[in-house]
Amino acid sequence: MLELSSVYRAVEILRRGGLVAFPTETVYGLGADAENELAVRQVFAVKGRPSAHPLIVHLGTPDRLDAWVRDVPRPARVLARTFWPGPLTLVLPRSARASDAVTGGQETVAVRVPDHPVAIELLKAFGGGLAAPSANRFGRVSPTTAAHVRSDLGGDVELVLDGGPCQVGVESTIVDLSSGVPRLLRPGGVPKEALERTLGEPLAIASGDDVRAPGLLPSHYAPKAGVRLATRSNVDERVRALLEEGRAKVAVLGPVGTIAPPGAKLFLLPEDPAGQARALYGELRQIDTEGFDVIVAVLPPETGLGLAVRDRLTRAAH
Ligand code: TXA
Ligand code: MG
Repeated sequence: MLELSSVYRAVEILRRGGLVAFPTETVYGLGADAENELAVRQVFAVKGRPSAHPLIVHLGTPDRLDAWVRDVPRPARVLARTFWPGPLTLVLPRSARASDAVTGGQETVAVRVPDHPVAIELLKAFGGGLAAPSANRFGRVSPTTAAHVRSDLGGDVELVLDGGPCQVGVESTIVDLSSGVPRLLRPGGVPKEALERTLGEPLAIASGDDVRAPGLLPSHYAPKAGVRLATRSNVDERVRALLEEGRAKVAVLGPVGTIAPPGAKLFLLPEDPAGQARALYGELRQIDTEGFDVIVAVLPPETGLGLAVRDRLTRAAH
């Protein structure tokens, strides 16, 4: 159990410019005081992340939005009211409070209010915004437990607040509302359908060459093992081809009911897309731990959280 005293210690570390890893409902974040440029630069150093890649500012309550954003258009208010706290990030025109260090020099800032009791307690006690990327090394799978964070970042982070396993398991959905047309930059914890219902219009999908969001880079979210995409009906064929190529350690990752041919080890995910999202990163890490060199992954349907799971697997396969 998390002690209240660790939240106080976290606040003390953040106030003097240190880094704290904390749980959110999506994945663990590596947090720094968003108004302390040196602290923010330290986040990039620890992650090994290029500094032009912007960070999400995490807020304790929705009413803090106006401090970080210049103009809050009506659709942003509606989405914030409906989905915060929750796994939705909004990209909006930045206020002077959002420094170049946080935004990567862009005129927009990404903000969200996470839905996790420890994150909220921490953000409220801290008072300001926390700039936080996922608490993994750049380009690797995001951490969904405190143990994942420790194994990735080790001694480079002063404190890891343990809030148990993340309930959503994939990163937040990112919507760009900084221009007239709402655009989906990254599918995530809030289904696209739910956003479209609330907005009353379809969401445009960001083009693949939008370099402002490294989460959109094809090679992002990759385990060490190579990933090959499959459907439930062609798993067998895919695995046999790999075994014939001489691949010794082949893993199959798919929903309950998936069948792996002899010679491959099966890693099962729950049947429903939300369950798959929750379990996905943990399973990918387990497969890496066991030293597999290739994963044959069964893609879920594109609906609900299935879209985010497909997106991460597809990027991992690149
Ligand atoms: O669920 C999440 O979003 C997690 C937790 C910790 O909140 N955070 C997370 O952060 O996934 P990160 O840094 O791994 O991914 C943030 C994404 C990046 O793809 C980044 O490029 C994009 O947000 N982003 C941040 N600011 C942006 C901006 N101003 N314009 C466009 N994209 C932006
Ligand atoms: Mg990340």
